[in-house]
Amino acid sequence: MFSKNFLWGGASAACQLEGGFDQGGRGLATTDMINFIPKELRGESILEVTADEIKYRKEHPEEFNFPKRRGIDFYNHYKEDIKLFAEMGFKVFRMSISWPRIYPNGIDERPNEEGLKFYDDVFDELHKYGIEPLVTLLHYDIPLYLTEHYNGFESRVTVECFKKYAKTVFTRYQNKVKYWLTFNEINMVLMSPYCCCGALIEKTTKNELSFKYQCTHNQFVASALAVKEAHAINKDLQVGCMVCRLEKYPYSSNPLDVYQSMFEDHLNYFYIDVQVKGEYPYYMDRYFKENNICIDIEPGDLELIKEGCVDFISISYYMTYVCKYNPDTKDAGNLIAQIKNPYLENSEWGWPMDPMGFRITLNNLYDRYHKPIFIAENGLGAYDKINENGTVHDSYRIDYLKKHIEQLGEAIKDGVDVFGYASWGPIDIVSNSTSEMSKRYGYIYVDADDYGKGTFNRFKKDSFYWYKKVIASNGQDIE
Ligand code: BG6
Repeated sequence: MFSKNFLWGGASAACQLEGGFDQGGRGLATTDMINFIPKELRGESILEVTADEIKYRKEHPEEFNFPKRRGIDFYNHYKEDIKLFAEMGFKVFRMSISWPRIYPNGIDERPNEEGLKFYDDVFDELHKYGIEPLVTLLHYDIPLYLTEHYNGFESRVTVECFKKYAKTVFTRYQNKVKYWLTFNEINMVLMSPYCCCGALIEKTTKNELSFKYQCTHNQFVASALAVKEAHAINKDLQVGCMVCRLEKYPYSSNPLDVYQSMFEDHLNYFYIDVQVKGEYPYYMDRYFKENNICIDIEPGDLELIKEGCVDFISISYYMTYVCKYNPDTKDAGNLIAQIKNPYLENSEWGWPMDPMGFRITLNNLYDRYHKPIFIAENGLGAYDKINENGTVHDSYRIDYLKKHIEQLGEAIKDGVDVFGYASWGPIDIVSNSTSEMSKRYGYIYVDADDYGKGTFNRFKKDSFYWYKKVIASNGQDIE
């Protein structure tokens, strides 16, 4: 069922893993400004910050806890960590390059050689064990300078800087990295423009939706430019898009609910439609008109988007989502806020767990696009307990992953072309949404807490041995 060359492995992001925020000539990233807030004090949108907060946090860092600055210190532990991935039999490791490690301010004339050298070393280390790196160009950590001076991806200056950055790394690593992704979860701009695009809503002159879709458009342009660069540099490079896929279920068979679910699905598919088909889909015209969404499209943009279509699709899959028609919020699209699905259980963080939805998602995607699919993220965030002898019994994680891999196998039997599966956070890393260290996804436990206290030593969990067996049997032995 799984092809001989199926890419089994794990996925990560520099801003959650790497640390070393002030080492090797790296500049400040947007994610360096996100501080940890304990659960009981957390508000709605902990990923958004204001210009004043950025200024204050830069001047008084000692007053804050910034987990994404330290990650799990992969910067200084990468050899040890990659060795552990190799022991599990990884074929692929999805990671991202920290843009400010290459261009500290984003706009610099020349790249930072020390930063470039770091990734050379990491890629060499992966290849030493036959592990294919799959690299995301931008996974949330935009050079802070571009936020402060240009409002991130609201500006075309940032698009140009991104193009230069992409060209630099494609050229440098073309013989070490074959698979690339442009933007991680490009659709998350609707939830957090700061996190996704380094753009502050207070700085825009547009209405909220126009602002978000302007950033989106600029990222489409940037992605198309990157794809074209990659193919021009080396025709063997494969570039994919990455979307947080949220399959929608109607709340009932009432056609109004069915319509609502189709409508909200469109808002999510939109991001793949543009990057795969190379044009704005018909259904967005009405949505833009009725919601007063006005975006600036420069001459040549639409042609460029057409020319820069991606080679494959990648998604993160964590949950599905129930849609109910509500005349008051009709067409608003409720993004991530959930209506409880009575057939599913939720994780400790309230994320509905839906293995069967994984098969449905994959079939729908393939049916719609007929493009190869890479699973860029899937996994369970949970509290783990480490025992005195260094063991972690995480049967709940094994259970979650087993059920999802089972359904992945079914989708492949259905005929869906999936060429790899990278579970999220194969080694515990800092959570993106909450900046917690205690929300763990890994097969490998890292001894660090939410405040950065701990030895940072690594320990193998029960799931480590389980995943090793899954890979060794090419997905046949998942018990
Ligand atoms: C995805 C992101 O949304 O989900 C990752 O691409 C993130 O960066 C992952 O870590 C899991 O979310 P969280 O909030 O549990 O870390």
